Amino acid sequence: MTDPGLPLSQHTDYGAERLDEADLAADPSPQFDRWLADAAERGVYEPNAMVVGTIDADGVPSSRTVLLRAHDERGFVFYTDRSSRKGRALAAHPVATLLFPWYSLHRQVIVTGDVAPVGDDESDAYWRTRPHGSRLAGTASRQSEPIASRDELEARVRELEAEHPEGSPVPRPGRWGGYRVTPWRIEFWQGRTSRLHDRLVFTRDGSARGEWKLERLQP
Ligand SMILES: Cc1cc2nc3c(=O)[nH]c(=O)nc-3n(C[C@H](O)[C@H](O)[C@H](O)COP(=O)(O)O)c2cc1C
Repeated sequence: MTDPGLPLSQHTDYGAERLDEADLAADPSPQFDRWLADAAERGVYEPNAMVVGTIDADGVPSSRTVLLRAHDERGFVFYTDRSSRKGRALAAHPVATLLFPWYSLHRQVIVTGDVAPVGDDESDAYWRTRPHGSRLAGTASRQSEPIASRDELEARVRELEAEHPEGSPVPRPGRWGGYRVTPWRIEFWQGRTSRLHDRLVFTRDGSARGEWKLERLQP
């Protein structure tokens, strides 16, 4: 067998930071905001990038990275093509996990919750903030569908550019929009020395309207 080398054999020590019950906000929503702000301040690249896990109609799991675009006490919002692979999975099973992998901070947050499309007004408002090129790309691309060549995709974008020159509005395709994940479980994970990590988990009942309960899990 070949030597896998340093990346597979190294044992990084996750250092002195800790996560105590007493340091946590009473509610996971402000606690998440605190950690997201830390991640941004401490230089995490794309701190709002999260890995979204879904289950399709056949029970097959899949995951991919998307960007968190809004967060408040109602939940976590991302935007995508709802006819994509993930969109089809969410239509079959409207639940998801969101994993924020803040490795350089020795932290991760894992959110689990129910998923619903956001309203058209909210999707429209976000669509208008996207750069012109991204709106054209979102219109040209049928996300997750096969295409014969890159040239074909670029030709589609050029056609759309002629129809909607820079500075003119690009209508939001009906298949493109946001999803809100309403959490019922949020785990805050802080890496500690010798793999004796801190794991604090907020849960509430499935209706996602109950009181939050806090538990510490073994690492
Ligand atoms: C850093 C990063 C950010 C991304 N952000 C988004 C996003 O906000 N929305 C999106 O639809 N895809 C985003 N993608 C692309 C997705 O990972 C994925 O390729 C795409 O959504 C199709 O996934 P699906 O075929 O599983 O539906 C991002 C990828 C990366 C690496």
